[in-house]
Amino acid sequence: MKLNIALLAGDGIGPEVIDQAVKVCDAVAKKFSHEINWKPALTGAAAIDAVGEPYPDETHETCISSDAVLFGAIGHPRFDNDPSAKVRPEQGLLKMRQKLGLFANVRPTFTFPSLIDKSPLKRERIEGTDLVFLRELTGGIYFGKRGREDNGDTAYDTCTYTRAEIQRLAKKGFELAMKRSKKLCCVDKANVLESSRLWRETVQEMAKDYPEVSVSYEFVDAVAMRLVQWPNDYDVLITENMFGDILTDEASVISGSMGLMPSASVGESIGLYEPIHGSYPQAAGKDIANPLATILSAAMLFDDLNLAEEAETIRNIVNASLAEGVVTEDLAEGGKSYKTSEVGDWLAARV
Ligand code: IPM
Ligand code: MN
Repeated sequence: MKLNIALLAGDGIGPEVIDQAVKVCDAVAKKFSHEINWKPALTGAAAIDAVGEPYPDETHETCISSDAVLFGAIGHPRFDNDPSAKVRPEQGLLKMRQKLGLFANVRPTFTFPSLIDKSPLKRERIEGTDLVFLRELTGGIYFGKRGREDNGDTAYDTCTYTRAEIQRLAKKGFELAMKRSKKLCCVDKANVLESSRLWRETVQEMAKDYPEVSVSYEFVDAVAMRLVQWPNDYDVLITENMFGDILTDEASVISGSMGLMPSASVGESIGLYEPIHGSYPQAAGKDIANPLATILSAAMLFDDLNLAEEAETIRNIVNASLAEGVVTEDLAEGGKSYKTSEVGDWLAARV
């Protein structure tokens, strides 16, 4: 099979972790006789510096003419403390999600047996955790009406959802639940927010079409608490954009390192695969960042292209590297650690 994959390395540690994913994917492609045509394109602060825009049209063209997009990270500290910056790297990510119609963000959270004691949570609570968030990604407060009034002294961001937006996300949730343990949790704040009441109403209606799925409805604040107490109670969770942003960062703690959790953003056509961590500017250029979240995101990419064996190959070698202690310093706990590039080389050689 010939694959065209847009390669958006982005900022900070993005290029370093992306390089490792490329090594591993190339090795997998070779093993299974595929040919990957990588198509690099600019995004984030790197794109602002080069062309003044975080998601240039040319990058969009590259994405839509590819089979999938592999993405590193974006964000740069020089924008974070400058509220007046007109163009920000994050706008590139939001524009990309919107223009590519990526309305569903799939964020799995699972534990690795060899890392169970790296988690700050107790072993007996987290053992066997295997849950998936489906976060709505192109609506809600991220894309609602916003502005300033009162000479700039009042600011607002509005959270708007349509029934159709909720339905298409929830449909993916029900379908995923049917393939897994037939358990779905709708996370909202329906005791306060009107948009949440529309979520709940819509999901309740849809539940009639999936009689086998047991659906629970929980408030986001309660989920925030229960998620780290009893993660095994959950399987598939669906939620709106900002609740999902917050809860998935929280959930990543369960696995022991944010550097491990992959994600897929899917929707109308091609998918985008990216680690859930950010650009980690403090580590940029030091060859110390954990590349596994990006490499596991590449496994999700293969899965979505119906290349399940290829995906499994990646997951198996990642497990082997963890079991053998071939890990970056975030997981080494003072023991021997490997450079980002060494982990990539080790994995690629193992394929
Ligand atoms: C994420 C990130 C983004 C988000 C930022 C960088 C805009 O935190 O992918 O979770 O809030 O969606
Ligand atoms: Mn986030």
